[in-house]
Parts: sequence; C-alpha cells; structure tokens
Amino acid sequence: MFLNDFPKDIESYFKILKNSFGEGYTPLSIEDPWYFEKLKKIFTSLHPDEAIKRYRESKWSHLRTLYSLQLARSDKAVMDDLQTSHFLSVCGEDPDSRSYGQLPCTIKSIQSRVSIISSKVAKDSSILILGDDDALSVALAREGFTDITVFEIDEKIVKKLQSTLRDFPNTKHKVIQQDIFKETHSEFIRHYDLVAFDPWYAVDGVEAFIKCALKTCENVNPIIVLSFNCGALLEKFSELESYLRKVDYGIRTWSPLLNTYPMPNRLKFSIGLAEFTASLFSFKLIKPSTNRERIFFSSDLMILEHIGN
Ligand SMILES: C[S@@+](CC[C@H](N)C(=O)[O-])C[C@H]1O[C@@H](n2cnc3c(N)ncnc32)[C@H](O)[C@@H]1O
Repeated sequence: MFLNDFPKDIESYFKILKNSFGEGYTPLSIEDPWYFEKLKKIFTSLHPDEAIKRYRESKWSHLRTLYSLQLARSDKAVMDDLQTSHFLSVCGEDPDSRSYGQLPCTIKSIQSRVSIISSKVAKDSSILILGDDDALSVALAREGFTDITVFEIDEKIVKKLQSTLRDFPNTKHKVIQQDIFKETHSEFIRHYDLVAFDPWYAVDGVEAFIKCALKTCENVNPIIVLSFNCGALLEKFSELESYLRKVDYGIRTWSPLLNTYPMPNRLKFSIGLAEFTASLFSFKLIKPSTNRERIFFSSDLMILEHIGN
C-alpha cells in the first residue's frame, strides 16, 4: 500500500507539520508583507542560485510559514550538532559549491538515512548514489554495505570520496565523475536495488535525478530514497505527486524534516544583511526574526517504490 494521506497541497502539508510541533510552533512575528517582500527580494538577489531564486515568486505568507517551521525545529536540531556536516567529519573538508547546489547534511541525518536504507535492503544489495555531498557512500560502507556506486559532478568530491573509501577494502565501490544530464557509460548500466539522491528542491530537480536513475538501472523498479524539502515546492506542491505517478512511482513512506543541513556562514550573513536592509527600507528597525546560530535547512526523507512492486 502506498501513502494515501500524503498531503495534496502546501496548506495541508504545513498544517500537518504545525500540528506535530504543537506548542513549539510559533509563527514569525513579522506581520508586514511589504517588509517581507523586500527581505525576500534582497536575499534572493544576494544568492541568485536556482534553489533560492525561485522563492521570488512565492507568496510571503507561505514563506513565512516555511521559515517558522525551521525555527520550530531549532531545539531538536541544535541537539543534532548543527555545526558539523557528515562530509566534513569523514572527509576532513566541506564541499562548498552552490553552483552545484551543495549543502552537506548533519551526521545525525546520515545515521537516520542509513538505518532506513538498512531496513529496506540487504547489505550486499547494489546501491547507486546520485550526487554525494553528504558522503552517504562512506556511511553505508562503514555500516557494511558492499556494493556502492556514486555519480558526482564535482571532481573535488569525487577525489575525497575515493580516498576515504579506500579505508573499506571489503566494499566494491566506484565513485565516478559523472553529470547526471550526460550519457552514462555502459559499464555502469546494470541492476541496482536502491538509488539515493538529494536533488535541488523543485519538481524539475526530482525529474532530472529520476531520469538518470531509470536510464542507469537495467531493472525498472529500484527503490528510490529521496531527500527533498516538500515545503520548498510551495505553490507547486501537487506537481511532485503528479510527476511521480507519471513515472509509475508512489510514495511508500514520508519522514517530514528528517534531514538537517548546517547553514553555511555566507548564507547566515546574507539573511542578516537582508533583514537589516529590508528594515531600513521600511523606515523602522525591525528586530531580526532569528537567532542566526539556530538557522539551518531541513528536508524530508521519502521512500519511493515502483507501483508494480
Ligand atoms: C543537487 S545537490 C543538493 C541540492 C540541495 N538539496 C538544494 O536544493 O539546495 C546534491 C549533490 O548533487 C551533486 N550534483 C549537482 N548537480 C549534479 C549533476 N548535474 N550531476 C551529478 N551530480 C550533481 C552536487 O555536487 C551535490 O553533491
């Protein structure tokens, strides 16, 4: 059975999350849409990458809820040790290319992802990871998984993962510099039991990664482990399920906000700058909405399965 009660629109999604926080959810006190519009424009201009640029078109009321939900999680997230990413802890240096949308997740998030994957497939299953700034491959090798292939566009990440995975001689691992949009070398087209990825948070991001997964797997039905911030879809929320149905995939499980990502310093700085500048434009000094040490991103974890499975 697939999830029938996956929310159908952004309002229902937000409602479920707000209810789960109960008292812990407090809407941001900024009531001034004009201020928020300015804040949004300034912040998105400071970071014109695809992931952030699209917030320009979103309603301020939705963005305000999205932002408040992040803050509602901060107590739990601070305990997750938000300062250190898993990639940094195992590879010694963080990847940091926003041109590839990189945002490495916390150690705790990777532990949860590994335990979910372990509950779905055996240790000798073949795993394909598309984009690995989270160093999931290393965590899986450490857990005893023996057949891991990674496609990653960024040469620096590829080299780091290759050298870290050398410590696991019992794992058959291949880390390849590969753009998911380009043709896959025939050597890597084979059966994979499970494919994991964390695309950019838009339906075309999911689409691009699923296309690559399906053209690389000889089998038509790999399990897909998708890290994805459904909240970031905002007004386009319902398009995700429609797209999945088109490729015959259904949502088997949905773990809202399971992944957390430490916020890079330059993003924290831009939020501060945007808040300050927007308050100047509003001719009133508005108290910053957040304790910037507590700002982070989060995303949901979804298990997708082929409808015929
Ligand atoms: C897409 S990024 C994560 C995006 C993030 N969730 C967001 O929306 O801000 C995840 C990983 O995919 C890699 N990546 C990005 N574009 C890629 C491509 N065209 N081919 C292969 N890997 C890619 C990145 O280097 C990174 O390691």
